[in-house]
Amino acid sequence: MRTLITNGLVVTADGSQPADVLVDGETIALLGADLAGRGVTADATIDATGKYVVPGGIDVHTHMELPFGGTFAKDTFETGSKAAAFGGTTTIVDFAPQTRGRSLREGLDAWRAKAEGKTAIDYGFHMMMSDVNDATLAEMDQLVDEGVPEFKLFTAYPGVLYSPDDHIFRAMQRTRLNGGLIMMHAENGPVIDVIAAGLVAAGTTDPIGHGLARYPILEGEATNRAIRLAEAAGVAVYIVHLSARDALEAVMAARDRGAMAFAETCPQYLFLSLDDLGNGFEGAKFVCSPPLRPRDHQEALWTGLRTDALQLVATDHCPFDFHGQKDLGRDDFRKIPNGLPAVEDRVDLLHDGGVVGGRISRERWVEIMATAPAKMFGMYPKKGAIAVGSDADLLVYDPNRKRTISAATHHMDVDYSIFEGRIVQGASDVVMSRGSVLVRDGAWVGPANHGQFLRRAATDHTRMS
Ligand code: URP
Ligand code: ZN
Ligand code: ZN
Repeated sequence: MRTLITNGLVVTADGSQPADVLVDGETIALLGADLAGRGVTADATIDATGKYVVPGGIDVHTHMELPFGGTFAKDTFETGSKAAAFGGTTTIVDFAPQTRGRSLREGLDAWRAKAEGKTAIDYGFHMMMSDVNDATLAEMDQLVDEGVPEFKLFTAYPGVLYSPDDHIFRAMQRTRLNGGLIMMHAENGPVIDVIAAGLVAAGTTDPIGHGLARYPILEGEATNRAIRLAEAAGVAVYIVHLSARDALEAVMAARDRGAMAFAETCPQYLFLSLDDLGNGFEGAKFVCSPPLRPRDHQEALWTGLRTDALQLVATDHCPFDFHGQKDLGRDDFRKIPNGLPAVEDRVDLLHDGGVVGGRISRERWVEIMATAPAKMFGMYPKKGAIAVGSDADLLVYDPNRKRTISAATHHMDVDYSIFEGRIVQGASDVVMSRGSVLVRDGAWVGPANHGQFLRRAATDHTRMS
């Protein structure tokens, strides 16, 4: 099957040019001006006049079906990946969780089985590690060889996922040998637990307590500590879901001294704030960790994205229904499952707040939502590029179309939207994954289980400035 996308403006991280794109089978075969006029034929034509043609979005931080706080993230690979595609994301990298006391292998196999044959778009895995010991350290080498080269460790969630400094350091030392990468959830969990207990004892049990307990400085401290440990081990480190100016300052200082410190932020930290946690128990809809920050942190994060202090935006998609899941913590904010739904809205929110909002160029938008994730996580130029030989993961994107985000119309399997009623400018008319059109004009037209497991190469982060 050959598809010719005509008359669009091809926008990549490197620049924009009017060009036609010929897709042959699963990949991009040809790129150039007026291909049809030059005799190139195809089985189907998509007219992209007035539209951008951009690489499909890549969301490198999702949690389909994650067990958390006595329940499970609501989206399955089937529902979550389809919702991602509706929103212009054509690749996800999910986190396979290790159960404490069990092997990494068991966790990875379980998550691969959940995803296999049910995922609409291509997917890879990082490993979430809750035990660092001789056995799991040895397993890390195998996983790197199998295309799962990143390991998320936590300085948060004591007693559940938390790792002490010596464990983190040992895992980092191992990545120096096997080429993997440590991803850090950087908040000072033990200190946060002390503050949270004090708030509850003093009568603050509402969701706002979640935001008040998790001080920005405790994210800054843990971020700095994680980076310093990585420097001591002589490796790169990647900070996930960076939310606070304090943490950004730690990353910037590290990069200024030449450390290999990389970081992502998430849409919720760019668009929402601590105020959203404050409306009685309604605030439970916005409970995630790190928490939403005071509004004045948002522009610091946008500046970080503009200047490449922050390399990319992922969602940390981890949805729980308000009714039946978030309300597990009605009497105590510490029992509210942590996580938000966002996988469907990232691409359009970044276009609207970033490009339409005048904060970043359209080329930088493509970079932070597709190209930089592909480069950081061993998928480039197969993914995240519009180039001959790259996978035909493409969006025909209307930069002018406006839509209103709502739980009534979204495809994520969750009973509310954190962006309810927000009007965004920019939407995907066509979403193509490896040459197959999955979504056209808001309707699903592709197979439900088109996605393939991505065996990703370990990345040499010393080559990334
Ligand atoms: O609140 C969050 N972020 N939930 C998902 C688990 C994690 O820490 O990423
Ligand atoms: Zn986390
Ligand atoms: Zn996460």
